Amino acid sequence: MKSRQSVRASPLSYNIQINKRRLLRDLNAVSRIGIGDRGSVTRLVFSIKELRSRQFLIHQMRQIGLQIHIDRIGNIFGRLDGANAKAPALLVGSHLDTVIHGGKFDGTMGVIAALEAVRILKEQKLVLQSPVEVVCFVGEESSRFGYSTLGSSLVAGEIRAKDLAHAADAQGTKLEDILASMGIYRNNLRSMSRDPSTIRAYLELHIEQGPILEAKKKPIGIVTSIAAPTRFRVVLTGQADHSGTTPMEMRKDALVAASEFIVALEKICRRYSRMEKGRVVGTVGAISIEPGVINAIPGKAELSVDIRSIAAEAKRRVVRLVQARIREIARRRKIQVKILPLREEDPVPLDKWLIHLLKECCEMRNIAYEIMPSGAGHDAMQMAKVTPAGMLFIPSRRGISHSPLEWSEPEDICLGAQLLLDSVIRVANETT
Ligand code: GLV
Ligand code: MN
Ligand code: MN
Repeated sequence: MKSRQSVRASPLSYNIQINKRRLLRDLNAVSRIGIGDRGSVTRLVFSIKELRSRQFLIHQMRQIGLQIHIDRIGNIFGRLDGANAKAPALLVGSHLDTVIHGGKFDGTMGVIAALEAVRILKEQKLVLQSPVEVVCFVGEESSRFGYSTLGSSLVAGEIRAKDLAHAADAQGTKLEDILASMGIYRNNLRSMSRDPSTIRAYLELHIEQGPILEAKKKPIGIVTSIAAPTRFRVVLTGQADHSGTTPMEMRKDALVAASEFIVALEKICRRYSRMEKGRVVGTVGAISIEPGVINAIPGKAELSVDIRSIAAEAKRRVVRLVQARIREIARRRKIQVKILPLREEDPVPLDKWLIHLLKECCEMRNIAYEIMPSGAGHDAMQMAKVTPAGMLFIPSRRGISHSPLEWSEPEDICLGAQLLLDSVIRVANETT
């Protein structure tokens, strides 16, 4: 364990404040890119809207005068040099892509708050010891390809070729084909990773996306660990047939088998929530059927399955039970089943030094905080595999996220951004 020495410059001794109006203005500007019905935001990875949001960020970074580096997949790094230009950089950021009909804050707030933190450092001519890089990772959301934290996984060297094999969008476009168009192939995935010795630490500010902070009336969460998903697709193939002439007992209806499976998945996860220490949650979030017409028995059903927990062993057991169940249902109904793995990851603990440092930052401003795990996935879970990673949460109204109803109060956003700035100053000024 490396010992770390503070250079004894607390953020408050600089008394440096973020510019709240500018932060909220930029957040609004990004939210307008991809705005849709009922204030929803849609910026799927590699869509025109998502590319435009990345251009907005690059423009802002240029205005500030950051050194910009964009890697082959499009991860953006905007660097502000430190007193020691050769020191490893503190990375701070999140993602700009969204789910379909998502909200304005998931990911975006973390990127824009990081941008504001670095902008104010530059304006105030405050030179920290280590360089600081604002980072926007590509494709954190799994909504398009079923594959999450794409950009940060590449940076961390955490992508396995076999994980990409079944990643495709609803139109059948394969993630591998898109990556190939960028010169990223199965055999050079590793070459995309960044040398960990160039990274000091990673910090990410994010909305909670859950109900805890609101319920406990705490404005800040400090994250201890991140639940990681096991994801797979289930393809059920029965027999498409005439809906009027086929007797009920002769049918091989793939959708009915899928329905039985979805209910079984819910039951297993509920039972496990009661039995195990770690909660296990399971979701079928997407389903497609063929032929999908009123007068034909569905011959094929394809489902996406997402199972998550903070407890690795509990999750593994639930995955085994769920997969055994779908095989049993298919056997009984004389339907074929294929289980196509997408990704299997273990829950990730965040760095103890950073948890402590974030606590101190809150205490210095007399801010109440909650120490808590994250049920949602984040880029921090990939970065934590190669560098100390820390995360701050702010409350989400009614805990809602991945929805147009996602909302966080401007006051909380500004407080989160201020604490992010405070922690950036602390981390970048500490010597190892
Ligand atoms: C990311 O938002 C995820 O947890 O799916
Ligand atoms: Mn999300
Ligand atoms: Mn997010």
